Amino acid sequence: MPSGTLIHKHRAAVLVSQTDHSSHASPGSRAPLGFWSGSASRVDRREDAVTEAVQDTQRPVILVSDRGACARVTGGTAILGAGVPDREALPIVGYSPANPPEHLGDPGFLSDHGVRYPYIAGAMANGIGSTEVVEAMGRAGMLGFFGAAGLPLEAVEAAIDRLSHSLEGRPYGFNLIHSPSEPDLESAVADLYIRRGVHLASASAYLDLTLPVVRYRVHGIHEDSEGRIVTPNRLIAKVSRLEVAMKFFSPPPERLLKSLVDTGDINEEQARLAKRIPVAQDITAEADSGGHTDNQSALALIPTLMALRDQIQTRHGYRQTLRVGAAGGISTPISAAAALSMGAAYILTGSVNQACVEAGTSDIVRKMLADAEQADVTMAPAADMFEMGVKVQVLKRGTMFAMRAQKLYELYRACDSLESIPKTDMAALEKSTFRAPVDVVWTQCRNFFADRDPSQLERAAKDPKHKMSLVFRWYLGQSSHWANAGDPTRIIDYQIWCGPAMGAFNGWVKGSFLEELEERSVVTVALNILYGAALLTRINALRSQGVQTPRSWSEYWPRPIQPIQDKELRVQ
Ligand SMILES: Cc1cc2nc3c(=O)[nH]c(=O)nc-3n(C[C@H](O)[C@H](O)[C@H](O)COP(=O)(O)O)c2cc1C
Repeated sequence: MPSGTLIHKHRAAVLVSQTDHSSHASPGSRAPLGFWSGSASRVDRREDAVTEAVQDTQRPVILVSDRGACARVTGGTAILGAGVPDREALPIVGYSPANPPEHLGDPGFLSDHGVRYPYIAGAMANGIGSTEVVEAMGRAGMLGFFGAAGLPLEAVEAAIDRLSHSLEGRPYGFNLIHSPSEPDLESAVADLYIRRGVHLASASAYLDLTLPVVRYRVHGIHEDSEGRIVTPNRLIAKVSRLEVAMKFFSPPPERLLKSLVDTGDINEEQARLAKRIPVAQDITAEADSGGHTDNQSALALIPTLMALRDQIQTRHGYRQTLRVGAAGGISTPISAAAALSMGAAYILTGSVNQACVEAGTSDIVRKMLADAEQADVTMAPAADMFEMGVKVQVLKRGTMFAMRAQKLYELYRACDSLESIPKTDMAALEKSTFRAPVDVVWTQCRNFFADRDPSQLERAAKDPKHKMSLVFRWYLGQSSHWANAGDPTRIIDYQIWCGPAMGAFNGWVKGSFLEELEERSVVTVALNILYGAALLTRINALRSQGVQTPRSWSEYWPRPIQPIQDKELRVQ
């Protein structure tokens, strides 16, 4: 037996030898990876046994060629890369070390964020990404972001109260969303996070960096006793454009740091340190997703942002390693395995979580989502950036929201005021869309903004087009509330953010227990996606070794999975 190095000992001792074995052809077209010796009773050629061994990603698997058939072996000694050790030895045709879901993704991401799995439940506005979602994820060793967008400050603070107790010491985060039409709110939310010690935020919808997001990031920045820069607050930025990614991967701009020094938010020394850190160490490449999306192709966006990551890492020589995660369209083992195989540090899902029992939405919406197919989504005007023509991806099936919202946008573009809208159009709006006289809608807008943001009313008093926009945005806002509350009289107007991932998920789980709505919990869904992804990753590795991989190996059906509730899991 040639000398070698013991690299793994589980069911079989595996040794690696440098011996050239290229002349020993295996029954297939490729040379064997090595040879296995052991008792004949440990060789199992039954198809079921081989499939079971391949699908058990918690354990290593060794496949040998035994009289022309693929067999699994246990025990014995496997020597990788060796010449034939003895005449009885069987050629190894495939080998995979244990590769459970915990081994997917970037280990640095896992340890930095104190999570077991490289999986995030992305923020979902108006508390659809509820405290229940975040708690379930945190307890199972994954990350969940509370959907703070669209909620009043008191509701966000109530969620902080709850999560800071229920998830003490475990990972969780909050959404910090760019709000161009409500800049004061964005600033107040950032201040709230700073004041209440929310140390992880998902920055989203940014087209440029704002003072609040940078203030949040650099708050409390200091050097430790060994001269390392410590940043108590971390951002995971969601991005779909290169130029925005560049801003988040770069240090905060000089002019914003200067403003923060001028206002006394940071001192000169902190501004100096801030020039050596990225605004965000982690960027989620958001491809074609539910909600705000540029409908980008993940296959193109992920490598583009990875190339940028490497350039900026080299340019700035940060101590931290920049990372790119993936979102948009991920809801099945195949899509998750693809993103992670592309090198994504982690994956983030959205649409699929809205259909889960913990999501802060109604059962009617959950049912509509469960019926969705791949093409049942479309783009519709967004409430928060309506005037700018920004769109969100929504569910099309069973609701007329997208059509009605589009009509509102066209009228907004064509008219200067509510009064200048053609009479027939206004009559149709009042009858079907608003189901109320426009004056009544305006009164509701006034009451809402008097409380939340009186500056909007001042502007509307001077600018009739702005008044029209507020009225139209009333419908866009209400349509989300009707959906979340499950108002049965307004189903036709439900605004439900959803991407093509939902239909893909429904297709995958068809016929399995996850077809049942009450079985869809965010953790069960996540673990099934991850376990399936781990299996596919293994099968792809075996295939690249030359193993013929039958379809039955990758037929992974969702199954009830008990999450590992690791009490030792702690944020570092
Ligand atoms: C109902 C819903 C609401 C969302 N709200 C927000 C939000 O408030 N902030 C945010 O950053 N992303 C939001 N997103 C995007 C998700 O966090 C996530 O990035 C996206 O859904 C991932 O793509 P997928 O839908 O294909 O899984 C929302 C998505 C959905 C489906």
